[in-house]
Amino acid sequence: MKNLGKDIKTVLITKEQIEKRVEELGRQITKDYEGKDVVLVGILKGAMPFLCDLMRSIDLPVTLDTMCVSSYGNSTVSSGHVNIKKDLDRDIRGKNVIVVEDIIDTGITMSALVPLLKQRGAASVELAICLNKKERREKEVDVKYVGFDIPDEFIVGYGCDYAEKYRNLPDVCVLDSRVYTKA
Ligand code: PRP
Ligand code: MN
Ligand code: MG
Repeated sequence: MKNLGKDIKTVLITKEQIEKRVEELGRQITKDYEGKDVVLVGILKGAMPFLCDLMRSIDLPVTLDTMCVSSYGNSTVSSGHVNIKKDLDRDIRGKNVIVVEDIIDTGITMSALVPLLKQRGAASVELAICLNKKERREKEVDVKYVGFDIPDEFIVGYGCDYAEKYRNLPDVCVLDSRVYTKA
């Protein structure tokens, strides 16, 4: 990408690699959830590209819903607290929920959200995460479906933003430090 590419240091995961991996995850989910009532819950906004791709590689009659949440972003605040900016549209009681996320970093967002969804009576709640930044984990979270384990770098693209930008990059890229160090 000519214009966005100027701010990129390196490409970490290409569009082709993402496509291949998402196909595999979709196939696995199709196998694991056959005959079950599945709701895919995408977490706005980062999950959008991954949600769009993943749902089309799942060969089951899933339904879709979205939430927009923000955690307090402070690990000293106990999990279970998540600020819901947009809630689910439909009841998840008895449903098999798969939460779809672009990235898991500290784990604070998901460690707060999963118990909440279970509390609402979901039959099961599992996570499908495209990018797993393990080194940064502060809260233990059980992730069933992982796209890629990635190093602790400043990444953007495929839904991940810096200051709300770069989400539309088709590859997962390392942002050039010039972008976030300039005054
Ligand atoms: C980012 C990302 C995850 C969350 C992960 O979302 O998309 O949802 O942070 O961080 P954690 O594991 O440390 O909790 P953000 O809150 O930036 O909103 P966005 O999806 O709109 O970018
Ligand atoms: Mn997000
Ligand atoms: Mg963000």
